[in-house]
Amino acid sequence: MVDMETNLTAGMTALASLPTIVPAPDLCREPLSIGGVAMPSRFFFAPMAGYSSLALRLALRELGGLGLATTELVNARSLIEKRQKAYELSETCAEEEPVSIQLYGHVAAEMIEAARICVGMGASMIDINMGCPVKKIVKSGGGSALLCDVGGASLLVEAVVKSVEIPVTVKMRLGWDDATPTAPELSRKFEQIGVAAVIIHGRTREQSFMGKVNLQGIASVVESVDKMPVVGNGDVRTLADAEAMFRETGCDAISIGRGALGNPFIFRQLAHWAKHGEPGPEPGFTDRLNLMDRHFHKLVELRGEYQACTQFRKTLAWYQHAIRAPKHLYHQLINLPSVARFDETIAEMRSEGPVGPLPSHFEPKIPTPKGPIDKW
Ligand SMILES: Cc1cc2nc3c(=O)[nH]c(=O)nc-3n(C[C@H](O)[C@H](O)[C@H](O)COP(=O)(O)O)c2cc1C
Repeated sequence: MVDMETNLTAGMTALASLPTIVPAPDLCREPLSIGGVAMPSRFFFAPMAGYSSLALRLALRELGGLGLATTELVNARSLIEKRQKAYELSETCAEEEPVSIQLYGHVAAEMIEAARICVGMGASMIDINMGCPVKKIVKSGGGSALLCDVGGASLLVEAVVKSVEIPVTVKMRLGWDDATPTAPELSRKFEQIGVAAVIIHGRTREQSFMGKVNLQGIASVVESVDKMPVVGNGDVRTLADAEAMFRETGCDAISIGRGALGNPFIFRQLAHWAKHGEPGPEPGFTDRLNLMDRHFHKLVELRGEYQACTQFRKTLAWYQHAIRAPKHLYHQLINLPSVARFDETIAEMRSEGPVGPLPSHFEPKIPTPKGPIDKW
């Protein structure tokens, strides 16, 4: 098995380390704390609605190298109304530390109450969403709509900062559009009112997910603040991207979303790179299968057998792409009836091994809003 694995992964393009391995900035080896909460590393998992489940966050954390994980955005009002979905999205547990629960809303009283609920649920930090571009959220005055109202956004954030003992951060875009780059001004204000860090996605709301991330825009946020940590976000897929994000922006940490779905081992590789100058061994068939196994079993623990079997379908194709199990075994997992069948199938996959060379990446298809901005 070991030989087969070595052969199959040898020569595989290690995308995370191409084209050449650049040295990690010294900063990556220095400790970082945000509002007094120690970060295990400077490599964070960005919130992604529909993907950042507790099961996946825990499975990623077990791989090593992950600093802060954040839940996907949770509607403050839904949490107050005790809606099950909102509770599921903000659920965390003792093994998950540090974790930030991300809230969105625009009514201070609701944000305060929801933030207090999050403290009770075990959040290490609260993150306020000021970046979501989706019309439904923007229309209600939340998400990136807050970028257009520096005064109102500051009052909202200050109310939350004052109402909880844990650190509060803000995740935002550079501004609504190129003509209104409000992130530097907002960040300066936020630092004055006690925000512990800002996470900047280097695009405007108008850009959605199009074009390249604007590192200069993130740098302008770094320059606008005094000591508050700034976390750079957007388009980090490789070690070279990570290095460029640190070097070109002067940010204190980086946050990775889609890159971590494409390569769940990226945090481990970045941490290894920070320490040893290279990303360490390429994850082989067994590493990938173990990840799939842990992810599924976390889901079973959290959601029970029936939900785990149905929810896991969503990620099955990525795993199959990355492990290249024999087709008949993959088909056994598609209409998965039970945990027992999953375990039998994994055992068979282990003994049969992959059918060909492993690709360097998993292949999640992640839809993002496209087309005219007024249609999202
Ligand atoms: C499918 C999807 C869902 C997202 N959901 C959230 C969210 O819930 N909260 C948030 O602040 N950002 C969200 N984002 C934005 C990401 O956190 C991140 O800022 C963006 O994808 C750029 O980083 P990346 O290139 O590393 O993915 C989402 C992005 C995607 C693609």
